[in-house]
Amino acid sequence: MARRTRRGALDRGRLPRHIGIIMDGNGRWATARGLERSRGHRAGSRAVRAVVRACRRLGVPVLTLFAFSTENWGRPRREVQALMELLSEFIAREWQEIMRREIRVVHLGDLRRVPGEVRRQLLSLERATRHHRRMTLALALSYGSREEMARACRRLAARAAAGRLRPAAIGIDEVSAALDTRGLPDPDLIIRTGGELRLSNFLLWQGAYAELFFSKRLWPDFTESDLRAAIADFQSRRRRFGLTDEQAEERERA
Ligand code: FPP
Repeated sequence: MARRTRRGALDRGRLPRHIGIIMDGNGRWATARGLERSRGHRAGSRAVRAVVRACRRLGVPVLTLFAFSTENWGRPRREVQALMELLSEFIAREWQEIMRREIRVVHLGDLRRVPGEVRRQLLSLERATRHHRRMTLALALSYGSREEMARACRRLAARAAAGRLRPAAIGIDEVSAALDTRGLPDPDLIIRTGGELRLSNFLLWQGAYAELFFSKRLWPDFTESDLRAAIADFQSRRRRFGLTDEQAEERERA
């Protein structure tokens, strides 16, 4: 059974070790207000700030945000540009707080297409925060899970071709270690806002056993209290990992 907690309170001993968020709904949020889509992204970046702070305060060890997908490169140039500017602003504006709160920042995805300035800023922030241990914030940027898996296959194949890896020795751990998320725990909880019910090429390998939480809330409206509701829902679920109920209960007690 899930441990009981005070109404509305979260069990700090059973927080997800890694939360992934698909931040959807910025465009609709803006359109509903007669604004340009980029204004929705700007409002979305305020929600990012609130959710990062909330995770840090709660003690969630890893938060991954799907900031820009490989497919998003196909959006109108103006929108792509606006998103890149927002990322750049976000890094500059949050730098001090990220340092003060000892958050480690890493990226997932292929940064080669990302404009040089944003890429340099992000890589500098990663370098500056690499020793931080209080929380990890992973920004999935120019990220697609299938592309990430293909990259991992190429890395493994290159090592095998060089005679440094036996093909028969390639198992789940080796694949995991070749992904952009190497060293991070798999997500326990994946949240998608905006009412759509799909994963859209986000952490497909890593999310094999993630609990999924879909919220109708558009991302700019997503607040700390929505995050807490998602975590409370996660804590109310029994995760069986393919075992029977009895076995899962035993595992929980252990
Ligand atoms: C999806 O909404 C959201 C994105 C493509 C980008 C997410 C980016 C941010 C929240 C802002 C910047 C990020 C950081 C980390 C500072 P959509 O445009 O697809 O919405 P729609 O489905 O309503 O059109």
